[in-house]
Amino acid sequence: MVEFALPANSKINAGKAWPKPDGAKQTRTFKVYRWNPDDGANPQVDTYELDLEDCGPMVLDALIKIKNEIDPTLTFRRSCREGVCGSCAMNIDGTNTLACTKYISDVSGDVKVYPLPHMPVVKDLVPDLTQAYTQYASIEPWLKATTPAPERERLQSPEERAELDGLWECILCFCCSTSCPSYWWNGDRYLGPAILLQAYRWIADSRDEFTGERLDQLEDPFRLYRCHTIMNCTKTCPKSLNPAKAIGEIKQLMVQRKV
Ligand code: SF4
Ligand code: SF4
Ligand code: FES
Repeated sequence: MVEFALPANSKINAGKAWPKPDGAKQTRTFKVYRWNPDDGANPQVDTYELDLEDCGPMVLDALIKIKNEIDPTLTFRRSCREGVCGSCAMNIDGTNTLACTKYISDVSGDVKVYPLPHMPVVKDLVPDLTQAYTQYASIEPWLKATTPAPERERLQSPEERAELDGLWECILCFCCSTSCPSYWWNGDRYLGPAILLQAYRWIADSRDEFTGERLDQLEDPFRLYRCHTIMNCTKTCPKSLNPAKAIGEIKQLMVQRKV
């Protein structure tokens, strides 16, 4: 029988355990994935104890407190702290989400924090998004039109504008793509739910005049059709968007233009 095992350098070791703060009344344990490309060591999970009475309510508050007060080597991305920049996406308690909008109190037991799954890791909780952004560039995410630009903006009716609801709110956090089994296995050729939702955002825009070309670019067994409607993407989106529906709309347009 074939046996599968992780390469030796991918096995996660037990990491360092930092002591409980003196006089802490309401301690909570955080188990955080650590990996440093510069030390040649395997990844490890470090354990930090925080006093929740002296910490903000979100997982990001806890990570900032760890970095500021316990271990400055901990590396993670964050910017807005308001769920609008997408940079603090990570896997918390087994689910891809935003650390800045995830309440510590919503996690039962130890708070386990890992980078987004199935992406190369730059360091600790920072995934390498190079491929994802290359794929984003491939869909040409800007308004394309050949009719000359009017004196002021290109107008839309309220109904046309409403077609973009559920699409414009995407913050490109990649929680969805990194929860998608098809993207895990074929991420080099399948665009994944985040990029396909963005592609549909421009297809659905009444001001864009390149719908046909955009659909041509997606008409491919891998780029679009690796989606098997497993729905992990929609389940995990921290902005409550529905990338699976956007993918379905693209597939429907593909069929409609053939009949
Ligand atoms: S659809 Fe949701 S999960 Fe996917 S990138 Fe956009 S905001 Fe993130
Ligand atoms: S619905 Fe499609 S894009 Fe979403 S998780 Fe499933 S296969 Fe991936
Ligand atoms: S820090 Fe911007 S979304 Fe979390």
